[in-house]
Amino acid sequence: MTKMLVTGGAGFIGSNFVHYTLKNRPEYQVTVVDKLTYAGNLANFDGVMDDITFVKGDICDDALMDKLVADTDVVVHFAAETHNDNSIRNPKPFLDTNIYGTYTVLEAVRKHGKRLHHISTDEVFGDLELNDPNRFTETTPYNPSSPYSAAKASSDMLVRAWARTFSVKATISNCSNNYGPRQHIEKFIPRQITNILSDIKPKLYGTGEQVRDWIHVDDHNAAVHLIIDKSPMGETWIIGADNDHVNNKAVIEMICDLMGKGKDWYEHVNDRPGHDMRYAMDSSKLRRELGWQPQYTDQNGMVEGLKATIDWYKNNEAWWRAEKEAVEQAYAKQGQ
Ligand code: NAD
Ligand code: TYD
Repeated sequence: MTKMLVTGGAGFIGSNFVHYTLKNRPEYQVTVVDKLTYAGNLANFDGVMDDITFVKGDICDDALMDKLVADTDVVVHFAAETHNDNSIRNPKPFLDTNIYGTYTVLEAVRKHGKRLHHISTDEVFGDLELNDPNRFTETTPYNPSSPYSAAKASSDMLVRAWARTFSVKATISNCSNNYGPRQHIEKFIPRQITNILSDIKPKLYGTGEQVRDWIHVDDHNAAVHLIIDKSPMGETWIIGADNDHVNNKAVIEMICDLMGKGKDWYEHVNDRPGHDMRYAMDSSKLRRELGWQPQYTDQNGMVEGLKATIDWYKNNEAWWRAEKEAVEQAYAKQGQ
């Protein structure tokens, strides 16, 4: 058995990664370390709790990380503060967890000579103009816009520095916006699905022309496993499913349509300050060199994945209902 430590494994992508790993890669023995912030949820392990070891803890706790990393073979580092709108309200936790927490993980893997895969985002590159046909590649310079993306960019730079200076065995992936089951309802797609399920009109920031290159979370996690299996050390990988033709307005219309509302059953709300316009990912290196292919690839890129995601929120109301009112109250204070 190979021991795998998953940081932030009780969150959206991390918990889907744990489920994916247990289902498809039985050779891994999985330990999750998670602080259980508002974004972490033990219910994400319903049905698999007996198959993992769960440790409630903070990645900034160096003694804890030292102990956990000493006892593993590979660390997959998802833990982060992740919501842009929260980083605008209060940046400090983003600096603590995303920067200092990643430093702590790096020092532990350096000391014990363990393999690290660091999970990052396309947001480190900043944004493209709407009419810019270019896509981000592994060599695009960093130019982050928000406290969240600046803190993630810092964490990537630390990983690169530790790989170069201390020969830490690390790889990095930068993925586009994920969607799928178990995503916190503060995020765009689950917020709109749970709005409709609560008879609230979906909320579109500004004009809704912004483009996110959406990818289903299982396609992201399949790529992460391929990178862990096959990547040379020190490499960076772009992960994206070629959905950079779908803007926010089109996504909200698709959700309204799939949920039996008129396409325009939504309202425009205040825009996000510093709102990035367009993300677009060139994942050709990953496809060419590691043979990755996304599985959610229907004609619109995301209709099948969205249908399954809508069904998940319909069937798991107990997972999200208790938080809905507070999330909407926090947004309402900002006119969103
Ligand atoms: P999430 O907010 O759903 O989950 C984050 C998890 O980290 C939570 O379980 C939380 O409790 C835990 N956590 C936070 N601070 C911690 C700390 N100090 N110590 C231990 N655990 C802590 O986030 P997500 O959407 O699943 O994102 C996971 C990773 O993927 C992040 O690194 C994020 O930057 C990256 N990413 C996300 C997306 C996306 O679309 N969601 C896209 C690309 C990359
Ligand atoms: P979000 O899910 O917060 O992800 P990110 O900020 O990492 O891209 O938002 C995705 C897009 O949706 C982004 O352009 C902001 C927009 N958005 C809305 O239009 N309405 C909403 O209610 C939210 C939460 C986001």
